[in-house]
This record gives sequence, C-alpha cells and structure tokens, in this order.
Amino acid sequence: MSTPAAKKATDVYFTLNNGLKIPALGLGTVPSDNPEDVKDQVITAVKAGYRLIDTAWYYGTEKYVGQALKELFDEGVVKREDLFITTKVWPSFYHSPEKSLDQSLETLGLDYVDLFLQHWPIALHGDENGQPAAPKDENGDLKYDDDPVSGTKFIEVYNKLEDILDTTKKTKSIGISNYSIPKLRQLLPHIKKHVPVVNQIEYHPQLPQQDLVDLCQENKIIVECYSPVGSGGAPVLKLPLIQELAKKYNCSTNEIVNAYHILNGRVVIPRSSNLERIKSITGLPELTKEDLDELYQIGVKNPKRHINDPWGYGLGFRWWEGDTKSKTFD
Ligand SMILES: NC(=O)c1ccc[n+]([C@@H]2O[C@H](COP(=O)([O-])OP(=O)(O)OC[C@H]3O[C@@H](n4cnc5c(N)ncnc54)[C@H](OP(=O)(O)O)[C@@H]3O)[C@@H](O)[C@H]2O)c1
Repeated sequence: MSTPAAKKATDVYFTLNNGLKIPALGLGTVPSDNPEDVKDQVITAVKAGYRLIDTAWYYGTEKYVGQALKELFDEGVVKREDLFITTKVWPSFYHSPEKSLDQSLETLGLDYVDLFLQHWPIALHGDENGQPAAPKDENGDLKYDDDPVSGTKFIEVYNKLEDILDTTKKTKSIGISNYSIPKLRQLLPHIKKHVPVVNQIEYHPQLPQQDLVDLCQENKIIVECYSPVGSGGAPVLKLPLIQELAKKYNCSTNEIVNAYHILNGRVVIPRSSNLERIKSITGLPELTKEDLDELYQIGVKNPKRHINDPWGYGLGFRWWEGDTKSKTFD
C-alpha cells in the first residue's frame, strides 16, 4: 500500500472576505535581470501547479505575464478562471486607478484581474499616465502630492478602488498593500462598503508582525507575504534555524519559509529566476506548532526589514531603515 502524497502548497486555498478563493502559494514577478524571463517563469509555475500570479503596473513585467498566459490558454494548460491574477496601482498613478487598471489589463491581455491592490498608501506627483513613477523635485527629493504622514489622499484612492469594483467588471476583488497598523486604522472607518480582501506586506521570520496580522484578522483581511526570503541574496534562508528545519523535514529552506506562512493562514508569493527552483518549492512540510513559534521568535529577538523603499518615511512600519522624515506614528 502506498502512503498518501503529502499535501502540496499549491493545493491550499483560503477564502477571502468576499467569498472568493485565493491560492496560498503564488509566483512573484518583480524582474530579476531580464524582464522578458518572467514569461518562462510564469509558464513553469503554472505547469507546476501555481495558480496565483502577482504582478504590478510598476514592475514592467505585465507584458511578459500576458505572453505566458496567452500561451498557457492557447495550449489548454489552464483556463482563465483557473488562475488568480493580481495587479496594483502605483503611487504616481494614485489619481486615476481605473486608468492604471485599464493599462494593466491591456498589457496583460485580460478582461479582468482577480485582485487589484493599492500598491502603497502614498501619493506621488505623476502625470495623467502615472509618469514618472519616481517624480523628483529640484532638490532631487521625491515629489509628493500629499504628506506621507498626515495626508489622507490614500483613503480616497481606496474609495476609488471600491467604485471600480461596484461599477465595472475589471476586477473581482480589491485590496491594499504596505498598510501599517496606523495606516490601516486610519482607513477602516472610511471604507464605504468593501473591506480589503488582503493586505500585502513584507513578512518573513525576521519581521515579526503579529499585531498587524491580528488587526487584519479582526477585519477579515488575509495577509499576503512578499519578500518571503528577504529578496535578493535570500538572506532569510541563511538563518541557522531555517537550515536546521529544512534538514529535519527533508525539504528545501524555501519550503520551510512558505510553510511558515501557509500553515498560519497567510498567502506567500516568492519569486525566482531559477526555473528548477520554481518547480521544486511546492511541498508543504507539516511544521509543528513549536517549530512555527521558534521561527516567529527569530524576528522578535532580532528584527530586520529587508525592503526599505526610499520614501524617506517609514509609513508607520517599525524597523524601517532610512526613515529620516517621520517618526511620529505609534
Ligand atoms: N507589494 C509590494 O510592495 C511588493 C514589494 C516587493 C515584492 N512584492 C511581490 O513579492 C514577490 C516576491 O518578493 P521579492 O521579489 O522581493 O523576493 P523573494 O521571493 O523574497 O526573493 C527572491 C530572491 O531570492 C533568491 N532566492 C530564492 N530562493 C533562493 C535559494 N534557495 N538560494 C538562493 N537564492 C534564492 C532569488 O534568486 P533566484 O532568482 O536565483 O531564485 C531571488 O533573487 C515579488 O516578486 C512581487 O511580486 C511586492
């Protein structure tokens, strides 16, 4: 008698607050070297069982995601409705999220996405097409249309996403990304009708954020974890406990960090330019509660944020390097 195959990460789905399902494991599409390589990465991932693809107007890879999808649909590998495609509106396009979504849909070659996210809760001074994505003033500083600490335009942007959901068929769900506790607390009373289905944030064992997860859970918002290995160089995978656990469970270090999120009810969206890696990290080791707790303690003892976008502001997040302008949250 053969033993039943262990559950795979690609088999796990969570239910969003609007009743739709989201796959627990997705593929990130920030480009590594060549954006066009994303096409093969998406094809490889979908053939390996991934059903969630995370992209964004800002990444410059929607074109290659679209090429991959077309090939997968034409070859009958999957149907559109089998996939969960996410895209995002960048802060320099904050004034026209529907136009941003229209551009994304056209580039992706799709009629709708499954999830449309507000990429960051800030407003940069882009033109009617969101250009440039990183506008600078005469001193070389980022040019904001709203104060990143006290401004409230980010709330209006979320309300516009609600309108898109109510009045068009261009997205099935809406959500937020990079919302800290103070920003989420500020948004919640102003939601008209649709609570965000997810909050996509940097999250890995070095960055303990149980308080933010708790606030999201209280409001039925699923946490979606980006940079799960700490981005380029994969620093998180070098941590001794993660290496030990990979030996204990006879799996890769990537699968340990994916399981850390999935077993806790969080979506995880790793990225890789290595096609073998994409295919081989779909296992789901059954980490014990003690192992999950120990992983959490890594960041409690030694917190480290790996993504510190150069906003000049920490936007209410802790352990933000380069927050020279605001320390007024909390
Ligand atoms: N909402 C947001 O603001 C936001 C911000 C950042 C990211 N994201 C999303 O989240 C996705 C993932 O985050 P991320 O792109 O920051 O990075 P990530 O998945 O944490 O890290 C990817 C990097 O780790 C390397 N890596 C992975 N496993 C490895 C291993 N076993 N050994 C050596 N190197 C390894 C990869 O190299 P190889 O290419 O060699 O595998 C790649 O350079 C993004 O693609 C994007 O979709 C969203």
